[in-house]
Amino acid sequence: MYVCNCTAIGEKKLASIINDEGARTVGQVFKCHGQKPGCGKCASDIRDILNDGPKSGASAKESIERWKRRKMGIDRAANDKTGDAPPDLGTSPMRPDCRANGRRP
Ligand code: FES
Repeated sequence: MYVCNCTAIGEKKLASIINDEGARTVGQVFKCHGQKPGCGKCASDIRDILNDGPKSGASAKESIERWKRRKMGIDRAANDKTGDAPPDLGTSPMRPDCRANGRRP
C-alpha cells in the first residue's frame, strides 16, 4: 500500500527511510526519498506514522502496520481514538428515522 501516491512512497520504502536514513519529520522523509511532495495529502499520514512509531519508541514497521489498519478500517479501537470511526448504525442498515425507509421521524 502506498503511503504517498504522488511520489510512490510505499510501506517498505517509508520504513527504510525511517529506520535506515533516520527521517523524523515529513520534510526529512521527502528529502531522503529525493522528491518534493505533490499534493501534500499524505503529510498527515506520514506525521501520524512518525509520531506513533519512532518518536514514541515503537518500530516504524509496527507504526506503519497500525496506520494501514486504521486506513482500511480494521482497527476500530484505533479509529475511535482518532475520531475517524464510522458511525455505529446498529444492526439495521437503515436508521429508524431515515426518510428513505418511508417513515418520517
Ligand atoms: S500523496 Fe503524497 S504528496 Fe500527494
